[in-house]
Amino acid sequence: MKITGLKMFLGGDGSRPLRKQLSLTLAVVFTGSILVVILLLDQLFGWQAKDLINQRSVFFMDTMLAVRQYTSKQVNPVIAPLNEGGGAFRPEAVPSYSATTVFEYLRGSKPEYKEYSYREATLNPTNLKDKSDTFESEVIASFRSSPAQKVITGERNTPLGSYHFVARPIKVTSQSCLVCHSTPDRAPRSQILAYGDSNGFGWKIDEIVGAQIVSVPQNTVFRAKRESLLATVLLLAAVFSAVALVANSILNRLILQPMRLISKKAEEASVTPSTVSFTEKNRADEIGQLAKSFERMKQSLAISMQMLKDRQKP
Ligand code: HEC
Repeated sequence: MKITGLKMFLGGDGSRPLRKQLSLTLAVVFTGSILVVILLLDQLFGWQAKDLINQRSVFFMDTMLAVRQYTSKQVNPVIAPLNEGGGAFRPEAVPSYSATTVFEYLRGSKPEYKEYSYREATLNPTNLKDKSDTFESEVIASFRSSPAQKVITGERNTPLGSYHFVARPIKVTSQSCLVCHSTPDRAPRSQILAYGDSNGFGWKIDEIVGAQIVSVPQNTVFRAKRESLLATVLLLAAVFSAVALVANSILNRLILQPMRLISKKAEEASVTPSTVSFTEKNRADEIGQLAKSFERMKQSLAISMQMLKDRQKP
């Protein structure tokens, strides 16, 4: 049963015309290979998409860290003295403020950044817009319970779509932070006036108070992946169809046409062998061999017929 199935598929059981057999075999081979290609490319494009998303989020996080650093090193020394005076508090001196503000500008600059997000989520923040939500609080709790952990990455499914996130802990690393984040009486008056004295205080040295979290949307990248896959499959199908057409025409020209001709001549030769000439016998290929065999058979037939005739003569 198995063998007959294989024979039918490869062609060789003679149950259908060669052209149909070739088309059937090619269709099975091509469909099979396209399916395998889809499976493999789906995996490969999937890895590539994930890698791209990961690269984007790491770059995004590094950029935000650089903005923070620039603010600490270059902007803060210039602006901080202003906050000591009685004037309005200048948040430009605060790294967290500059990072979130730069991000807002970035987000506003192009529609494709609309879904990106950068958060300095904090359990007890100075600016209440930095208050961690449930998901962010869980990430912070996980950093607090294992302080050696430097980064958490993962996927997050929300009603708006699926996101890849990268999170890093925010730790109170220097005593200078405690000026503004320990007790209200140590903080500049201007800060109290701007943010109040009830939140963003009580932080301790070496405490993990929050997490920087970048989120990058995955939907657009995965859509692009699906489109590439579809384009590749369509391209393969087009190439395979072209190959099938060419193979069919080669089969027709090389084998079927000469065979039909020889078969017609053989039929003629079975009645009047002397009028038929298998001219294809001069060919060097298998068709030539077939024609030579027929030519020999024709000659034998002619001799036999002649002998019969001679015998019938009185
Ligand atoms: C001059 C006072 C000052 C100093 C010094 C300071 N901060 Fe802040 N910090 C603030 C203010 C004010 C905000 C709120 C800024 C805003 O409006 O986004 C803030 C915000 C933050 C936030 C975002 C969450 C929140 O509370 O809104 C983090 C995290 C943070 N600071 C960490 C630190 C760390 C770590 C240090 C030390 C390296 C530090 N800060 C030093 C005043 C300060």
